[in-house]
Order: sequence, then C-alpha cells, then structure tokens
Amino acid sequence: ESGDAAAGEKVFKKCKSCHMIQDAAGENIVKGGKTGPNLYGIVGRTAGSFEGFKYGSDIVAAGEGGLVWDEETFVAYVADPKAFLREHLGDDGAKSKMTYRLKKGAEDVYAYLVSVGPA
Ligand code: HEM
Repeated sequence: ESGDAAAGEKVFKKCKSCHMIQDAAGENIVKGGKTGPNLYGIVGRTAGSFEGFKYGSDIVAAGEGGLVWDEETFVAYVADPKAFLREHLGDDGAKSKMTYRLKKGAEDVYAYLVSVGPA
C-alpha cells in the first residue's frame, strides 16, 4: 500500500456526493450520497456486490467473473471506470454508472478507505 490516508480523507470529499461510508452497525463514518454504493469494506469486496445497490450490468458481470477490489484494481477503476470495465471485460460496449473520473490521489483514497474499514 503506497498511499497517505490523511491526504485520502481530503480527496474523499470528491466522492461523498455519491458515496457514503457506513459501517455494518449502520454508523456513518462519512455521511454521503446514495447515487453510488456504500464504500465501507470495499477492499477485498467483489465488484458490484453491495447488497441492495442497483449496479449496472457490466460491473456485476465483472464481479461474477472474479473481479475483487484491491489497490491495483481500485486505482485503475477510479481513474476511468468505463475504460477499466471495457478493458477488463474485453467489451468495447461496456458501460459504467459511475461517470466520475479521479485524476490523481487514488492511492491516497485507497489508504483512507483501508484505514476506516473493518480490521
Ligand atoms: C461505483 C469509488 C466518486 C458514482 C464505485 C466503485 C468504487 C467507487 C470503488 C465500485 C463499488 C462496488 O463495486 O461496490 C469512487 C471513488 C470516488 C467516486 C473513490 C471519488 C474519487 C463517485 C462520484 C459518483 C459515483 C462522484 C457520482 C457522480 C458511482 C456509481 C457506482 C460507483 C453510480 C456504481 C457503478 C455501476 O453500477 O456501474 N465507485 N467513486 N462515484 N460510483 Fe463511485
């Protein structure tokens, strides 16, 4: 892991319009929007698998094919979700419901999400 969690906490301000971080007990670590899935415990989670969230079919297919979020896949995905899914699935028509692209700081956000996630 190469990122800086304190820097990542600041970068996460760009994510929270769409993503909350809410633990298993329902406590808000970050009170965020509901356009995207809860990112608590995202590290090690199968892509497209947060219970109750209505994902696009392509990220669900990627998860069913074995995509799990780790630093490498997370950093590549948040830089350009659609391009990542297209390359990962080998499908030039693949779509992403996340249209936001993070230009820099993904390693830091990753470190932050690890730091607030389950032990
Ligand atoms: C999905 C991270 C910003 C909307 C995801 C996923 C990750 C992620 C890791 C996959 C989750 C999973 O498989 O359960 C981030 C980070 C952000 C960010 C780190 C900030 C840097 C945003 C923003 C929006 C958004 C600003 C809304 C404008 C979504 C949506 C999905 C998603 C709708 C579901 C994608 C689909 O079903 O195809 N995000 N996100 N995200 N995110 Fe974000």
